[in-house]
Formats: sequence, C-alpha cells, structure tokens
Amino acid sequence: MINVEGLSKDYGTTRAVDDLTFTVRPGLVTGFLGPNGAGKSTTMRMILGLDQPSAGRALINGTNYRELSEPLRHVGALLDAKWVHPNRSARAHLRWMAAANGIPDSRVDQVLADVGLTSVADKRAGGFSLGMSQRLGLAGAMLGDPGVLLFDEPVNGLDPEGIVWIRNYMRALARQGRTVLVSSHLLSEMAQTADHLIVIGQGRLIADMSVAQFSSLAQASVIVRSPEPDRLAQVLGQNQITAMRSSTADGRPSLTVVDAPAERVGDIAAANHIALHELTPRNGSLEEAYMRMTAGAAQYQSGAPGQGSPGQHPQGPPPRSQFPQNQYPQNQFSQNQFPQGPFQPQGPFHGQGGHQ
Ligand SMILES: Nc1ncnc2c1ncn2[C@@H]1O[C@H](COP(=O)(O)OP(=O)(O)OP(=O)(O)O)[C@@H](O)[C@H]1O
Ligand SMILES: [Mg+2]
Repeated sequence: MINVEGLSKDYGTTRAVDDLTFTVRPGLVTGFLGPNGAGKSTTMRMILGLDQPSAGRALINGTNYRELSEPLRHVGALLDAKWVHPNRSARAHLRWMAAANGIPDSRVDQVLADVGLTSVADKRAGGFSLGMSQRLGLAGAMLGDPGVLLFDEPVNGLDPEGIVWIRNYMRALARQGRTVLVSSHLLSEMAQTADHLIVIGQGRLIADMSVAQFSSLAQASVIVRSPEPDRLAQVLGQNQITAMRSSTADGRPSLTVVDAPAERVGDIAAANHIALHELTPRNGSLEEAYMRMTAGAAQYQSGAPGQGSPGQHPQGPPPRSQFPQNQYPQNQFSQNQFPQGPFQPQGPFHGQGGHQ
C-alpha cells in the first residue's frame, strides 16, 4: 500500500507536484498517467525518499521510505535501467546489491531466472540491450521480494515483445497481491496494463478511478448538421438534450450531442419538421477522454491540428469544461469499487498473504 498525502514539490518557482493525495492499493496495477512534465517522476522519487517533499508526505505500508529497515524487502523500483556499472556482469551487480541489503546470495540466481537472464548472467551489463537492461533492473527490484513496486515509464524504448513481456510481468506481480504503481504518458499503454488510473496534470490530481470507469467517460457522440441549427438546438434542449455548437473536419457548422443516440435526435428533428443534412454517430475514444481531461495541463503543446484545433471540436466551452474538475470528486471516483469489466484483476487482492 502506498499513501500519498498532500504531497507537493517546488523546484525554485516551479511547482512540480501540487498537493497530491491518493492511495495505491495492493492486488492491482495502478497506472500513473500524465503528460510530459506532469510530475510523475518527481512524485515517484518522493515516494522512494530520493527527493524531499516541500509539503505533505508519502508512506509505504504506513512508513516513510527513509524509516524502513531493509527497504528492498518492502519496495522495489525501476526508475532508470541504465544505472548499472557497465563493467559488472548482471550476476555481479545483483550480488553487490544483495550483499549491501542483507539479502542471501541464493536469491540472485532466482531473480535472474525469473526475468529470463540466466543465460547472460555473467556477461557485462554494459553490453546489454535496452530490453535486457530493463530485465536486469526488474531483477534488482525483485531481489528483496518486495510487496510494493514502482516502475517509471518501464516500456519506454522497448520493442513490442519487450513491452508485452513487461506488461505481463507487472500484471502477474499484482495478481500475487503486490502493490504495483507504473507511470506512463501514454494512455493506450495504461489502458492495456492497468486496473486503476491516477491521472495528473501540472502536478495536480485530475482523476483517480478504475480503467472501467475511465472508459465510460469516453462517451459516444452524435454529429448533426442542419440548415436550422439554432431551432434544432432549441427543440433538443426542450427534450433535455444538450447540443453544442461544433464544426466538422472540413469546417462546416454542426452540432455535437453527447447525451442522446442518433435515432432520438433524428426523431425529434422529424417531429419538428427540421431538415437534417447529416446525422453521424461517433464512438468516443479513451484517448479523446484523456486529452480532454489533460487539456491545458500539458507542459508543451504543439500547434498542430488535432486537439484544440477550433475546426474540429465543439466551440463555445473549452474542451475541459465538458468534464469539469468537480466532476471527479475524490469521494466519487476514489472509492474501493471496481465495476466488473475486462480490466478486473484475475487474482485475489492479497493472493500471497503477506504483501501490503
Ligand atoms: N531536479 C529538478 N530541478 C528542477 N525542475 C525539475 C527537476 N525535476 C523535475 N523538474 C520539473 O518538474 C516538473 C515535473 O517533472 P517530472 O520529471 O516529475 O515530470 P514527468 O511527469 O515525470 O514527465 P515525463 O513524462 O517527461 O517523464 C517539470 O516541470 C520539470 O521540469
Ligand atoms: Mg518522468
């Protein structure tokens, strides 16, 4: 279990982490998601005692990292895979780590086998590929058989096979009842790996919810074009349906409806003798929901067409206002409820007993 409470970090005048509060529970892969510069690595470093918080605290199983005796037995982390001494072999590196942490030597061969490095255990780690270095990093994280694991962007730069391998490994760790926190700036990666999501932007908490709940935010919409858009919006409003002014990809004015299916919009238009020139159902994507949430929170935004391009998105309210901050109150989405769905973890939360 990881508890982050009112955690903040200032670097000079930059507030990298801003009053974050969340809990990472055992038995789940929790995705820590946010655009570049959102504060993910800084938060993880504070959880691991590598950075001092400006305010608040982060606890691992109720204790500050720096106060843990034999920390490797409680927490494993993969922050930067390339920190191994280049002239040491994988085995020598792990033996050195084990010795420094009072972990028996026998554990070294066990974790090497676990991550599939037995055959290259005596080769120089400096010659390892990125994928092999990641595995060695994982072996190091697993040395003390910890119940809590943190991975910072572990799939960055890996080939598809390496990505699948790490994803399965993290999921297996969670199924064993461990607490797994993994960061990424890619929602697509998190949607395939995580059970639960903590989304941050500019250091602040944006969402704390299960992947299933997050998916439900990616709601479908209907694009409508009519020669009488104002009258159509008005009669839809009389039927408790909200129509937002928008424009199509090629710049023609349209309405976007998110709270009614195309059939109902068409029926209401017909009943009111309003001609329709287009009635297009669109499936919302998770990526769109994520971009709406983090709109304005990205540190660097390109001026390229796409999100925020006025020609393609509803005009009037800015994108984020569709899901205002107060729509994700802590008590609504951080509850211990995981709706049944494809992302439900398969094992018990405390599969191996001892882990917390
Ligand atoms: N040591 C530091 N000194 C000054 N500023 C820092 C330092 N570390 C991070 N920052 C700033 O803090 C903010 C958060 O950075 P952080 O690296 O935590 O983000 P991140 O979410 O991990 O981003 P990325 O997806 O790019 O890894 C950024 O504005 C960054 O420039
Ligand atoms: Mg980072």
